[in-house]
Amino acid sequence: MKFVNSYLARMQDYNKEHKLKYYIDTMGCQMNENDSMKYAGILESMGFEKGEEDNSNLYLFNTCCVRENAENTLFGRLGMLKKKKMQNPQTYIVIIGCLTQQQVMVDKIKKSYRFVDVILGTGAMSIFPEKIYNAIVTNEKHLEYLDMSNALDEDVPVVFDDKYKASVSIIYGCNNFCTYCIVPYVRGRERSRKPEDIISDIQKLAKDGYKEIMLLGQNVNSYGNDFDEKYTFSMLLQEIEKIDGIEIIRFMSPHPKDFKDDLIEVIKNSKKIARQIHLPLQSGNTEVLKKMNRKYTKEQYIELAMKLKQIPDISLSTDIIVGFPGETEEQFEDTLDVVNTVKFDQIYMFIYSPREGTVGARMEDNTPYSQKVERLERLKKLYEDTLPQLNEKMVGKTYKLLVEGKSKTNDNLYTGRTSQNKVVVFEANEEDVGKVVNIKIDSDHLWYLKGTIV
Ligand code: SAH
Ligand code: SF4
Ligand code: F3S
Repeated sequence: MKFVNSYLARMQDYNKEHKLKYYIDTMGCQMNENDSMKYAGILESMGFEKGEEDNSNLYLFNTCCVRENAENTLFGRLGMLKKKKMQNPQTYIVIIGCLTQQQVMVDKIKKSYRFVDVILGTGAMSIFPEKIYNAIVTNEKHLEYLDMSNALDEDVPVVFDDKYKASVSIIYGCNNFCTYCIVPYVRGRERSRKPEDIISDIQKLAKDGYKEIMLLGQNVNSYGNDFDEKYTFSMLLQEIEKIDGIEIIRFMSPHPKDFKDDLIEVIKNSKKIARQIHLPLQSGNTEVLKKMNRKYTKEQYIELAMKLKQIPDISLSTDIIVGFPGETEEQFEDTLDVVNTVKFDQIYMFIYSPREGTVGARMEDNTPYSQKVERLERLKKLYEDTLPQLNEKMVGKTYKLLVEGKSKTNDNLYTGRTSQNKVVVFEANEEDVGKVVNIKIDSDHLWYLKGTIV
């Protein structure tokens, strides 16, 4: 189905005269980044031009609520826009995304941030043009909570922010209800996009010169569970592998409980799937994992990670939460033990943040915050101590890499990421940008490697 909407044309007419500019501020994860590119596509179809932070008319905040600080980010930024709106009445403020999927937050915005024009949650692309048109042209604000989180929008126009790397959502929502996590409440139930829609999107991207694809979902390996006929994530990967022009395939996040042997085989046999797997651990202690509703034990996680590590040149990354309610010192040490055993190339670490409405928020938590901070520091230190051992092993070897552009810190050097997602800096020319080259690693540093194109 094509994304058709009479408000696109009506708003375009208005913009012929008024030439309004838009600016999108995205918080949160890659799913939100991906949604924002679609909202950019919709806004451009409505005749808005892309503007900058200081000269735009429509400010779209695509929000996150996974941790408290994500929420605070929005309120900090909103405060700054109030003045702008007073100076220029042709300023419109629109808030969408996960945070506004909660009634309490909608109430808070209505009460304390009265200058906001439109509030919508997740999955609201189909009514977005109408609400924007009404706010701007007929002066009707939309500030009511509507639950559209289970929508599956197809054929939405997209404006990508990179010429060679693109992301494609394959499954929306989550059914796992990990007890700390708000995502299932704000993103609805699992809905897999049809394989043919995904394939045709990627074929188009390949035709446009995209080389690297990131497949997105809260739990990519439950892809297809909601279909009547059997169709799995590994089957989808094999289809994507056949698309000419796509050279690197990444995905995130898989859930360890659904990481079956067929998927490992497909990765092993693939020439395109990146040698990097994100395997969220969350905790290394079996009791804590049970309280988190993760459905695997410490031993099962280690066994899976070690199986993956047998794939040559594979790198593993993970997410870890410290200070889950009731986590004891001994339980935390199990997390350190897993980190020490598996050795991750990248760890995203978070201090537990209670989310209202989740089961975790009702659990007793006697650990002082300062102790949680101290645990985070110890985890960080262990990670930084184990990382050089992994980086050293890459020196002298040659890896495939997409040249992404000039290094941000050194104008004479270029940068890219290997299949393992390691940042490499090297000498290159402007015409190498967008090409996949072979690079030999010369030396290792904690957060990057130095190499030479061979
Ligand atoms: N669907 C993905 C992750 C989504 S949220 C997955 O299952 O891997 C990204 C990460 O945020 C999670 O992996 C978790 O480590 C962290 N996170 C989620 N809720 C949190 C909370 N309440 N407090 C702290 N970290 C949290
Ligand atoms: Fe949250 Fe768990 Fe779903 Fe990931 S799998 S989004 S952590 S509930
Ligand atoms: Fe945040 Fe929503 Fe992603 S809560 S982490 S933006 S799914």
